[in-house]
Amino acid sequence: MPGVVLVGAQWGDEGKGKVTDYLAEKADLVVRYQGGSNAGHTVKVGEEEFRLHLVPSGILYPGKICIIGNGVVVDPQVLVEELEGLKERGIDTSGLRLSYRAHVILPYHKRLDELEEERRGSGRLGTTKRGIGPAYVDKAARTGIRVVDLLDPEEFRQRLALNLKEKNELFTKVYGTSPCSLEEILEEYLEYAERLRPLVADTGQIINQALREGKKVLFEGAQGTLLDLDQGTYPYVTSSYPVAGGACIGAGVGPKAIDSVIGVAKAYTTRVGEGPFPTEAKDTAGEYLRRRGGEYGTTTGRPRRCGWLDAVILRHAADVNGLTGLALTKLDVLTGVDPIQICTGYLYKGKILSSFPASLRVLQECEPVYEELPGWADDITGAESIEDLPPACRAYIRRVEELAGVPVKLIAVGPRRDQTIEVADIFG
Ligand code: IMP
Repeated sequence: MPGVVLVGAQWGDEGKGKVTDYLAEKADLVVRYQGGSNAGHTVKVGEEEFRLHLVPSGILYPGKICIIGNGVVVDPQVLVEELEGLKERGIDTSGLRLSYRAHVILPYHKRLDELEEERRGSGRLGTTKRGIGPAYVDKAARTGIRVVDLLDPEEFRQRLALNLKEKNELFTKVYGTSPCSLEEILEEYLEYAERLRPLVADTGQIINQALREGKKVLFEGAQGTLLDLDQGTYPYVTSSYPVAGGACIGAGVGPKAIDSVIGVAKAYTTRVGEGPFPTEAKDTAGEYLRRRGGEYGTTTGRPRRCGWLDAVILRHAADVNGLTGLALTKLDVLTGVDPIQICTGYLYKGKILSSFPASLRVLQECEPVYEELPGWADDITGAESIEDLPPACRAYIRRVEELAGVPVKLIAVGPRRDQTIEVADIFG
């Protein structure tokens, strides 16, 4: 049962889209298991660039089965637009399936996301304002509307009317703004329902059947370990479970379906939104990485905060995901940086912490301990094997492996598909 989970090992934006795209060629199924249109995957095929938010990156290979699993919160407007955009560019989207059990993002979720952020003021989380948090809140509160409910006009009307009673009280009485119109939402969403109906399926059954037949399934995580609701820098996290365990819940498979877990890590670190970031480089080094790495959000266009690679985070990611390998991305961005720093531990009150701290205060006050490594000046964007990399670059990779305790199985030296070095076969 070759199931491989690909998970972000940092705060998201690690280049998972590119790695998924690369591995998707070998996979039979590609499955998204959490998050929603807060995610943004940029994939470069030849000279063409694709920006995907909901559709798994595997769609760029004709005939691949791509699944939006039950753990995803789906904005039908985004999905319909994304599908149309892909079709216009000649991409075959017939392999896409959407879970009956996925929850639907409604206009009131997006409005609430904005209003709640405004209300938080300086304590804002820096969300993508795509309605993700409020949609997962409703799911947990058992007032959410699922795709299966959206497809049943009577059921949808009843649930929506009930929800709007409560949401409109919030809009008018708490936020002093206008209510949402039941009829307007019904009209718009029932149209989406008809557009999406042909894709909807029992996706858990499709995945489990494929696994029984020995097919290769790639579970594609969105966001990253440090944005995980339980394992991340709470409350500066997203509202889902990007970690590998989330793949079981969000795709509807058992833990034994997973053979390997690949943590995707940038060769440095970035973060968008608010929250602590111990190795953030607010100096010229950070600016250099942002410029060279093109570190601006795919979904919101916000400049990403940049800093050095943090091995404390990688060890945390290795533990909570059970990483069996690392995919080290954007290694080419480090070309010209000399020396390169890696954080090996956090110093707090004179002692090195033994694990990634749960307390935000500790995380804000701890001092990263750095090790310096020599950089390299040679262009590595044409490297086809590890032997093509300069010795200092290879030494950097070896040190990352040692500090993280996980072997590097894949290296990205540029944005294109062919700028990928597979050090070890990931599907086995
Ligand atoms: P939300 O997921 O929109 O609720 O945002 C919560 C936090 O997760 C914010 O800090 C966002 O910037 C961050 N976030 C959400 N999705 C992504 C992503 O795909 N990449 C990086 N950060 C993200």
